[in-house]
Amino acid sequence: MYKSIVRPIFFLFDPEKIHYFTFSLVKTLCKIPFVASIFRSLYLVEDKRLERTLFGITFKNPVGLAAGFDKNAVLYNELANFGFGFVEIGTVTPKPQLGNDKPRLFRLKKDEALINRMGFNNEGSLKAADQLRKRKSKIIVGGNIGKNKMTANLDAVYDYLKAFNDLYPYVDYFVVNVSSPNTPNLRALQEKEPLTYLLKTLKRENGRKSKPKPILLKIAPDLTESQLDDIIDIVNTVKIAGVIATNTTVSRENLTTDTSEVAAIGAGGVSGKPLKDHSTEVIRYLHQKSNGAFPIIGVGGIYSAADALEKLEAGASLVQIYSGFVYEGPGLVKEICEGVLKAENNP
Ligand code: FNR
Repeated sequence: MYKSIVRPIFFLFDPEKIHYFTFSLVKTLCKIPFVASIFRSLYLVEDKRLERTLFGITFKNPVGLAAGFDKNAVLYNELANFGFGFVEIGTVTPKPQLGNDKPRLFRLKKDEALINRMGFNNEGSLKAADQLRKRKSKIIVGGNIGKNKMTANLDAVYDYLKAFNDLYPYVDYFVVNVSSPNTPNLRALQEKEPLTYLLKTLKRENGRKSKPKPILLKIAPDLTESQLDDIIDIVNTVKIAGVIATNTTVSRENLTTDTSEVAAIGAGGVSGKPLKDHSTEVIRYLHQKSNGAFPIIGVGGIYSAADALEKLEAGASLVQIYSGFVYEGPGLVKEICEGVLKAENNP
């Protein structure tokens, strides 16, 4: 029904507009008595065998919603009805910011992909904290944090600290995002020295809390092997909880859409099917080279249970979806959960 009726209608409209229209629709529907429980009966798979415990958190199932979908933490309560084991809100920056000029989100239908250059449009960490105070469901919530566009990289640590402290009481884990291609120079923070400094500072701040929370690092798929070796080194020495691999790619390889059409879209990160194999390779490399020293959350081009199982087999402990949710619809979460159960029964 989603792919034959809903998606063709949604895809007639501007991608960003339809995103926010869907938010209002889901919010309204979930206010109608019994609708939330109908969604849950359609999409939720409850089975103890799906539970995963990582860095001290028990996830009801290994399928999460990736960052960028619910940037301002306005829909996570309702999204819990669609079967997710966890939802990552953000990227949240300390100050509100508008992001890049529109249009900034594009569909590559032929490739079943998206290109975005949103540029961390969000209402700021205090607003997100206000929203998170209203948590109704027991869903695990991750807080993905970043820096404001106008903040120089040398001062970035203060932005991350502010967002960290604002969200600290309300999220279950943190993600340090240094891998978005849409904030100028942000990815330079993935280099060894600035990244070690940033993570050490956040770790120290975390250590001052009565109950420190797991801190993960989200990386780009475009890192070289030697940069990935540095990441392994940093994760092991600073001792953060894990890595999320990967963010969107700046590469335009593996696309079948006309090159002139792709060029006309301009800058941005590609997500969805063309990213799948590359993000799996990054996960495999990190897992093998580190001897499984830390948990990895695998994300990038998951459109089916088989795609998710590929990421888990490559070394991921949990997976996240974004573009697959847009292209395949909400049934994808259930499909993956059922696929994981089936694979566990037939190892
Ligand atoms: C994203 N993604 C993202 N990631 C992040 O850490 N912070 C963010 O704010 C965003 N924003 C964002 C907006 C849009 C429109 C898209 C499509 C993606 C990246 C996302 O979380 C994920 O890492 C990639 O999209 C790869 O997964 P999929 O989409 O191939 O499943």
